[in-house]
Amino acid sequence: TWDLSAACRLADLGHSIVGVDISEQALKEFFADQGLSYCEEPVPGIAGAKKLQSTSGNICLYCCSIYDLSSEIVGKFDGVWDRGALVAVNPCDRPRYASLMISLMEKNSSYLLVTVLYDPNKHKGPPFYVPESEVKSLFGKSCFSSPPGCFPKHKNRFVCFCLCSE
Ligand SMILES: C[S@@+](CC[C@H](N)C(=O)[O-])C[C@H]1O[C@@H](n2cnc3c(N)ncnc32)[C@H](O)[C@@H]1O
Repeated sequence: TWDLSAACRLADLGHSIVGVDISEQALKEFFADQGLSYCEEPVPGIAGAKKLQSTSGNICLYCCSIYDLSSEIVGKFDGVWDRGALVAVNPCDRPRYASLMISLMEKNSSYLLVTVLYDPNKHKGPPFYVPESEVKSLFGKSCFSSPPGCFPKHKNRFVCFCLCSE
């Protein structure tokens, strides 16, 4: 997918990349599309989950439900790229999703969130419409803030929020 291709470029720059998708096919297509070899192993503590790790070692994709992950299993991150994730989450699960993501963030880390802009009266989703007020209530109260005057940025039907943990 688009975000994983970009993640691949970050990996080329030396960053360690961790991703998750419940679809094994999506993860395997990523490795095939990028021409990367990988190995598979089970994930201790998550029944049925698999870890697909690039042979180069710095791309690690978990095949499981994101809700099965925790910082004890995957560690904490200094950057998150959320595209097609929060907007795909069932709206009633947003608080659970946001608190999980916050628990996976290091202090002074960045969270790039991409949402979609449309009239929710005309389209019910998914992808679901997440108003800015909800982004603020999900992430703003705990530890995230958006640099003033910087974000959200609107581009076509996408809205980007750059959230920073404090
Ligand atoms: C809209 S797609 C976005 C994929 C990718 N982030 C992109 O931007 O191209 C949503 C993805 O979430 C995955 N997904 C849905 N529920 C999930 C869950 N509970 N845990 C992990 N992945 C999940 C789906 O398999 C699907 O690949």
